[in-house]
Amino acid sequence: MEDLKAMDFFDLVSNMRAMRRLKPDPVPMELIWKVLNAGVQAPSGQNTQPWKFILISEPEAKRWFADRYALAMETRFGLSRDPGNRGPTRRRGQLRALFHQMDHMHEAPYLLLVCGARDWPFKVAEEDRVGLAPPNYGAIYPCVQNILLACRALGLGAALTTMHQVFEDDLQAYFQIPDEYGVVVTIPIGYPIGRFGSVTRISAQEKTFLNRWGTSPQ
Ligand SMILES: Cc1cc2nc3c(=O)[nH]c(=O)nc-3n(C[C@H](O)[C@H](O)[C@H](O)COP(=O)(O)O)c2cc1C
Repeated sequence: MEDLKAMDFFDLVSNMRAMRRLKPDPVPMELIWKVLNAGVQAPSGQNTQPWKFILISEPEAKRWFADRYALAMETRFGLSRDPGNRGPTRRRGQLRALFHQMDHMHEAPYLLLVCGARDWPFKVAEEDRVGLAPPNYGAIYPCVQNILLACRALGLGAALTTMHQVFEDDLQAYFQIPDEYGVVVTIPIGYPIGRFGSVTRISAQEKTFLNRWGTSPQ
């Protein structure tokens, strides 16, 4: 694990930005296994390990996903799919990155669907349960974070996306996902275009109270 040794954990964790610009260059399967094996080390309630992965590499399937993702961005956020209709060319960095991801998602070597077993939250009474339960998000996100950290440690770019929720029914049908599971996140993975960099976050001191809400620890 050369890459990990080169980077202290605390540097790694503060340097794991959403990398939305990816090269189409192939990524060795050996690295993907390292990433997924890091994912499955995550904790889960009663160690149920309720995750499943679908690794999409087929061009046609990636295109299917990317087209619907772009449509979802358009209908939910009003981000035009037509590059000629995107307003001023000088848009803020994150917006430019989102457009890039939207236009090039099908070119990423892999799209990883992280699925989670569906499970009604405790607070939803049995008589109120209608349709399918949501995936147990809390049980899957530790696994997702391990995956993102492992990608960073190996020099792979990755970004967490959730817009597939807009076309969830089609997604379940296309990838033949049984009703017992739902897709929690989709992560395009590939070698990054451009550099990794520090994240911008509010400090823990500003987010923390001592003993009672509102009491500063200072
Ligand atoms: C629950 C959750 C949902 C997210 N959904 C999306 C998404 O649909 N599309 C996307 O591009 N990024 C998504 N992100 C990534 C965030 O936008 C990103 O982590 C945040 O803006 C901070 O940016 P940074 O990681 O580059 O510092 C999501 C992150 C989380 C934790």
